[in-house]
Amino acid sequence: MVQPTGKFHLGNYLGAVRVWKDLCDLKTNQNLYFGVADLHAITIPKPDASNFKQLRLEAIASLLSIGIDPLKAHVFFQSSIPQHAELNWMLSTFAPMGYLNRMTQWKSKSNLKESDEGTLDNTSNVKLGLFAYPVLQAADILLYKSTHVPVGEDQSQHLELTRTLAENFNKMYKKRVFPLPKTMLAPTKKILSLNSVAKKMSKSDPNQNGVVYLNDSPEEIARKIKKAVTDNISEAFYYDPINRPGVSNLINMISGTQRKSISAVEKDIAQYKNHQDFKNYVTEVLVEELKEPRLKYDNLIQDLSYLEKVQQEGASKASEVAEQTLDEVKTTMGF
Ligand code: ADP
Ligand code: NA
Repeated sequence: MVQPTGKFHLGNYLGAVRVWKDLCDLKTNQNLYFGVADLHAITIPKPDASNFKQLRLEAIASLLSIGIDPLKAHVFFQSSIPQHAELNWMLSTFAPMGYLNRMTQWKSKSNLKESDEGTLDNTSNVKLGLFAYPVLQAADILLYKSTHVPVGEDQSQHLELTRTLAENFNKMYKKRVFPLPKTMLAPTKKILSLNSVAKKMSKSDPNQNGVVYLNDSPEEIARKIKKAVTDNISEAFYYDPINRPGVSNLINMISGTQRKSISAVEKDIAQYKNHQDFKNYVTEVLVEELKEPRLKYDNLIQDLSYLEKVQQEGASKASEVAEQTLDEVKTTMGF
């Protein structure tokens, strides 16, 4: 799932949606479900209601623009399928508060430190939906009895909770209703903001200069990369995430984009002796990769009714499985 909270960026691309596209391209006949997490998107910050429909359709356009084929995958809004919310409730009755309390995302979104324990004091304004967000995510996954979940590194923790909930459910009713889904980590490491290596590149980052959007123009990409935080070390450019996090983030971007190992990228960039040359190279690589998605996106976004149709058809197919699973869950629980 991906949230319709703004334009897609390089982190979403390398960490998730390009992997989704690769799965579409496989010749095997697996069932693929790629949802737009609009129920998650109303946690924090709340989207402007007048713009939310547009944002949701933009997310569909972004998925199609990178080459996801709606004939090979179900592409839909989470909110189109009421079973997500219903299974969320069932699973929430299995979700330990202490476990949710250890998750990091609600803390970072509430400006708490990762090491903070949620107490009645410091969580009194945290909304239940934000705190319980990973339970809804578990419902998104288990509703389709998913076996593999292709996500970025930032989501591993949520996948562990998903497996725990599935296991607890199965144990409670002595029935293997849910398979335990495997985390399918993207080969690219988490992409960090260009401005601050202390945070990940994110759609919800108000500082757009730190984020390379998939539909940035070549000039915008060049401008952002030029300003990207690096360091004053003037030797050749090499990968060292601890001491050279900015440079290493750029190397990760190239490695992910070109599907090359870090050491292969290090060889390619060994020739660059100054930051400007190195950054020009990064820009070149990104501009080339994003050229096609950008053109496709510009076309797709002209036709909102087509995007709506893709979503409706995806939802109607996905509903068949969602209804079946929820029926089984309810029967198993004695409803
Ligand atoms: P965002 O945080 O930008 O709103 P989402 O929560 O919608 O992104 O995540 C969509 C997918 O993109 C998830 O699979 C997530 O793991 C991946 N992702 C998000 N940000 C990054 C990043 N900076 N680096 C790598 N993958 C990321
Ligand atoms: Na997010």
